[in-house]
Amino acid sequence: MNLASIPRHALPELLCRMPKAELHIHIEGSLEPELIFSLAERNRLQLPYPTIEALRAAYAFTDLQSFLDIYYAGASVLQTEEDFFDMAWAYLLRAKADNVVHAEIFFDPQTHTARGIPFVTIINGLDRAIQQARKELGISAALILCFLRHLTEDDAFTVLEEALPFRDKFIGIGLDSGEKGNPPEKFSKVFARCRELELRLVAHAGEEGTAEYIWHALDLLQAERIDHGVHCLDDPQLVTRLVQQQIPLTVCPLSNVKLCVFPTLAAHNIARLLACGIRATINSDDPAYFGGYLNQNYLETFVALPELGAAEAYRLARNSFEASFVDVEVKAGWISQLDAFFQQQHA
Ligand code: HPA
Ligand code: ZN
Repeated sequence: MNLASIPRHALPELLCRMPKAELHIHIEGSLEPELIFSLAERNRLQLPYPTIEALRAAYAFTDLQSFLDIYYAGASVLQTEEDFFDMAWAYLLRAKADNVVHAEIFFDPQTHTARGIPFVTIINGLDRAIQQARKELGISAALILCFLRHLTEDDAFTVLEEALPFRDKFIGIGLDSGEKGNPPEKFSKVFARCRELELRLVAHAGEEGTAEYIWHALDLLQAERIDHGVHCLDDPQLVTRLVQQQIPLTVCPLSNVKLCVFPTLAAHNIARLLACGIRATINSDDPAYFGGYLNQNYLETFVALPELGAAEAYRLARNSFEASFVDVEVKAGWISQLDAFFQQQHA
């Protein structure tokens, strides 16, 4: 395929229309202010913000923790199975509109079980939306249960026990929340247990944390994919490892700017990650909080970084499929679909 012949002005439509997977989306981060207000009303809860606009105006973050404080507060409106269904269904509709054919979706059960919401309520609501999306939207999705790293490893073991009766409803385990001071090794025992249970393993590392956190997520947790990972470029030996083993990074450009990991999108290192041969992908992280869903992340990143053209669009979409946790045959089917899409572009 001669992708160099695709002109720059054709990129926005290409980016939006190409089939892709999303591998780093926190479902609680897809709760739009409008839905927060309607769920608060449905559950007769008082929010600390008088209007939707006032809530949205509070979305000015200085770092990860300043975001997490508001994100956990927003998630407190989720109470019933219907609430979890509505949140996930709204995301899946948005994903469909962005030509996402497959999503691997994080959820943070401890945020809810700590408020007395039973695990069964959370998982059944999310799973029902996923099953309905498969039937009605033709979109594939799976859940990844995240442990909150600011809590203890014992807490993680507790939620794992609560989750195991629903083992068929999630495919893997992740690690999120405040990174600094909560290194991967804090969770090495519970990750080892999850590995025995044949769960797929991922971890946030190298978002605010150093390259060392990425080494430890790989070596001590056996993470198969690194969420964010943008600080890997500080360590040339780590870059060599990521390239040699083709360990995917799920990069979230708009998130990184909103949380001040990079000052601007123009300063983002995604083009350099790709140029090094790292299997980087583009994702939305918490789209309701960071200014856009998946296509918005692609569009703004490609405008800000002129090094990114049609070849990188193809590479990013292809990486998203290669990095996903589906069977090889399913992956191959999506990659053929992607190839056919790009062939049509300069037919
Ligand atoms: N980093 C860590 N924890 C999170 C994030 C993130 O970007 N989003 C939601 N929880
Ligand atoms: Zn994240």
